[in-house]
Amino acid sequence: MTRKIRIIPMQRTDNNQTIRIENYRPTPFEVRGVDMVFRLFPDRTEVETTTELERRAGIDAAEPLRLSGDEISPKRIAVNETEVASHTVTVDENGLTLRDLPANGTFRLRIDTVLDPAANSKLMGLYSSNGVWCTQCEAEGFRRITYFLDRPDVLATYRVRIEADKQSVPVLLSNGNLTETGDLGEGRHYAVWDDPFPKPSYLFALVGGDLDLLQDRFRTQSGRDVTLGIYTEKGRANGATYAMDALKRSMIWDERRFGREYDLDVFNIVAISDFNMGAMENKGLNIFNHKYVLLDPETATDSDYAGVETVIAHEYFHNWTGNRITCRDWFQLCLKEGLTVFRDQEFTADERSAPVKRIASVRGLKAHQFPEDQGPLQHPVRPREYREISNFYTSTVYDKGAELVRMIETILGKGDFRAGMDLYFERHDGEAATIEDFVRCFEEASGRDLSRFARWYNQAGTPVLTVTQDFDASAGRLTLRLSQVLAQGSAGTPTEPVHMPIRFGLVGSNGQDMIARVEGGASVDGDVIHLREAAESVTFSGLSERPTLSILRDFSAPVTLKDDLTPADRLTLARLDPNEFNRWRALSDILGEALVDATARVRRGEEPTLDPAVADALVSSATNEALDAAFRAQMLSLPSESDVARLIGMDVDPLAIHRAREAILMQVGGRGMRAFEALARDLAGEGPFSPDAASAGRRALANVLLDYRSAASGDPEPAASQYSGATNMTDRLAALGILTHRFPGSPAAEAALDDFHTRFQANDLVIDKWFAIQATSPSEDALETVRALSTHPQFRLSNPNRARALLGSFAAGNQIAFNRADGAGYRFVAEMIHSLDRLNPQISARIATAFRSWRCFETNRRGQAHEALEELAAKGDLSADLRDIVDRSLR
Ligand code: TRP
Ligand code: ZN
Repeated sequence: MTRKIRIIPMQRTDNNQTIRIENYRPTPFEVRGVDMVFRLFPDRTEVETTTELERRAGIDAAEPLRLSGDEISPKRIAVNETEVASHTVTVDENGLTLRDLPANGTFRLRIDTVLDPAANSKLMGLYSSNGVWCTQCEAEGFRRITYFLDRPDVLATYRVRIEADKQSVPVLLSNGNLTETGDLGEGRHYAVWDDPFPKPSYLFALVGGDLDLLQDRFRTQSGRDVTLGIYTEKGRANGATYAMDALKRSMIWDERRFGREYDLDVFNIVAISDFNMGAMENKGLNIFNHKYVLLDPETATDSDYAGVETVIAHEYFHNWTGNRITCRDWFQLCLKEGLTVFRDQEFTADERSAPVKRIASVRGLKAHQFPEDQGPLQHPVRPREYREISNFYTSTVYDKGAELVRMIETILGKGDFRAGMDLYFERHDGEAATIEDFVRCFEEASGRDLSRFARWYNQAGTPVLTVTQDFDASAGRLTLRLSQVLAQGSAGTPTEPVHMPIRFGLVGSNGQDMIARVEGGASVDGDVIHLREAAESVTFSGLSERPTLSILRDFSAPVTLKDDLTPADRLTLARLDPNEFNRWRALSDILGEALVDATARVRRGEEPTLDPAVADALVSSATNEALDAAFRAQMLSLPSESDVARLIGMDVDPLAIHRAREAILMQVGGRGMRAFEALARDLAGEGPFSPDAASAGRRALANVLLDYRSAASGDPEPAASQYSGATNMTDRLAALGILTHRFPGSPAAEAALDDFHTRFQANDLVIDKWFAIQATSPSEDALETVRALSTHPQFRLSNPNRARALLGSFAAGNQIAFNRADGAGYRFVAEMIHSLDRLNPQISARIATAFRSWRCFETNRRGQAHEALEELAAKGDLSADLRDIVDRSLR
C-alpha cells in the first residue's frame, strides 16, 4: 500500500542536529519481541519485520510512535495485520511517525522494506562484500534495514528467518541459536535463528554467502559445550587457526579472571573484506574485518598476530561488557568500550608481557589520544553532545576510557575492583546502564567515595601533574609537592581537580625500593598516593640516603607529567628502576628532551648532538641479557616524529624534527655498531617461525638494530640481504621499510618493492602493506608517489582497508609529505577525502581527523592547512560525518 503513505521530504540540516545527554528520555513504547524475514535475491533483499510493542504505563494515548529510518522506504505498514490508514503515518528522511496506535495492551507492527545491498557503499546496514551479504548495525545501521526504535536502551529478543538460493548462498547466519533449517523448493532454502537474550538493535547481525568454515569446540567452566565457527571467504579458512586459538584462550581467561562464561550454544565469527572498523561484537555472531582474522607467517607480521589476538579477545569480551550489559544511550559508549579495552589489555598483559604491553598501550595513548585531547576534536570520555555518533568511536572513548577503568583498579586495589565488577555483572545483567551505575558498583563494593574520581568522565583535556621534591638529608626526610592543573580546551568542559592515583617508589642506590614512613600529607596506600586536591604534599621519613624518585609508575594516571628529576636521575632510573615501565619512561623522557633540543639546533643551523652518556644507556639496554628482547626493543625505539612534535607543542617544523631524529639515530647507531652487529648475529638463525611473544620480541629487537645499523652505515646491503633471505613477513617488511624509507629510489629499494608486489599481488592484506609503506616514506616526494598510486589498478577507494592503507597512512603517518610546506599534501588529501565521502562517510571523516593538529605547525604550514580545510568546508555536499569533523577542526 505504498501509494497511501505520505512522504514528506525534510531539509537536510535536520539530519545534523546536536543530540544532548540532558535530553535523554525513555521511549514511550516498549518492544517485546522482533520477528524478521529476510529474502536474499541477487538484485534485492526483501525484509519483513514484525515487532511486538506496548505503550508504556502513563503514556498518553495520543502520543505517536516515532521510528528511525535511513535511506529506506516502507513497502507495507500494518498494525495487528491491518494496513494502516494513510493519515496515521508520516514518512520523512529520518524515519516515520505513526499515530492512532492502541492505547493499551501489546500490538504487532509489521513493516516491509526492500534493500539493495550491492549499492550500499557506506557499509552500514545490510551490504554485500565480495559476494557475501553481511550487516553492520552499530551505531545506527539497523535503521537502514527497517524502521525501528534504533537506540541502545530498547532491548528485545529476535527471531530471524533467512531465505536464499541454496547453491550460491549455502551459509545463512544470524544471532543466537539455530532452531530450524529447510528446503523451499526451486533451489532455495531457509534457516531460522533465535536469540533468547534481549538485545538492542545495534547488536543485530545477518550473514549469507558461500563461505569456508573452521570449526572447533569449547567446554565452559560449568561444563556446557559451545560450537565455535570462523567463516572466511573461499579458500582462506586455514588462515583462521591462530584466531581460533586466541578465541579459546580469551574464553578461558574471562572465566578465570572475571568469572564470565559464554552463554549460547554457538559462537560464530565471519571474516569480511570490506569493513569500516576492526570488528563488531554482534551477539553470538561477531563480524570481523578479515585483517583481524587471517594470518600466516609468510604474509602476516608479529604485530598482525598481536592485533588479531587483541581484537578477537576484545569482541569476545564484549559478550558481557556490551551485550549482556549494554549502554543506556550513546553518550555511555565508554561504558562498554573503555571497559572492554581495559579487559583486552589485561588479557594481553597476562598472555604476553605485562610491562611490554603497558609500554605499547601508553605509546598508543600518547600518539593518538593525547593529540585528540589537546586539539579541536577534544571531548570528554563521556561526551555531553554529538552531531554524528560515528565520529565518537575515538581514542578518547576507547583508550582514555580504559585508563579510567585502570585508575579505578589502582584506587581500589585488585580485590575490591573485582568485587565491584562482580556487583556490576550481577546488578545490571540484562540492562542498559550508565557510567553512574558502573561507578556506584565500585563505591558500594569498596566503601570509597568516587565522586571526585568520576569527574574524569566529564572533563576533556589532559591534566598536567607537577611533582617537585625537597630532601632533608640530615632528617632523612623527603617531601613531595604534587599539583594538578587542567587547562580549558575547545570542549569547554569543567576543569575541577580530580582524584588521581599516583603509583610511586623511592629507589635506593642498590636498585631497590626503600621503605619509608609516611609522616603526613596526602593519603598514601602502599605504593599509591591519592591526589585529590589541586595541590597537596606528602612527607616520607626514615630515609638513610637520598632516594631517586620513581613517580607515576605504570602510567597510573593519563596525565602530562612535569617533575624535577635531573638527567642523572633519569639515567639512574633507566638503569635500575625495579618498575620496568618507569625504566622505559625514564629513557624515553631523556630521549624526548634530547630530540626537542636537537630539533631546535637544526632550526638554528647547528649540528644536533646527543649526550654520549645517553647513547651509551641505549647501547647497554640493547645488550642487557637480563631483560627480555621485546622490552629491549621498546627501550631502543626512539620517540616518533609526531611524539616530538607534540612535545614541542607549537610552531612545529616537521622537516627539522626528521633531520634531528635521523642525526640522533646515526649517532646511537655509530656508537653501538660493534655491539649491535654482534647482537644481531646472536639473534639471527632461530628455528622455524613461531608467533609467540618471546620469538616476536627477538625479531623486534633485531629489526630495531638493523635500522640503527643502516642509518649509521648508510649501506643498504644488510637490509637488502635480510629482505631476500626472509622466511617471515615481520623480517621481510622491516627490511623493505628500511630500504624504501632510508634509501628511497635506490636500486635495492626499487628491486625489493617490485619483488614484494610480484610475490604478494594476489593477497589483498599484503598489498595493503605495499601501499602503506610507500605512503609513509619520509620525503616530500612521497606525495607524488601516493598520487600515482591513487590511480594504480589495485587501488580501490571503496575498500576501507585499501583507502586507509594509502590515504590514512599518508595523512596520519607521513609527517613530512602530508605537511609539505607548499600545502600540496593537504590539498591532495582534502580532494581525496571529498571523493571518498560520496562512497563512505565514516571512512572519509576518519581520515579527515589527520588535520586535527594543524594549529601546531609553523605559520606557513598552518596557513596552508587552514586554507585546505576551509576549502573543504565550503563544499555544499559533505556528509554529516565529514561536515562534523571539518567544522570542529576549524573551531
Ligand atoms: N563496537 C565495535 C568495537 O569496538 C566498533 C565498531 C565496529 C563500529 N564497527 C563499527 C563502530 C561501525 C561504529 C561503526 O568492537
Ligand atoms: Zn569494542
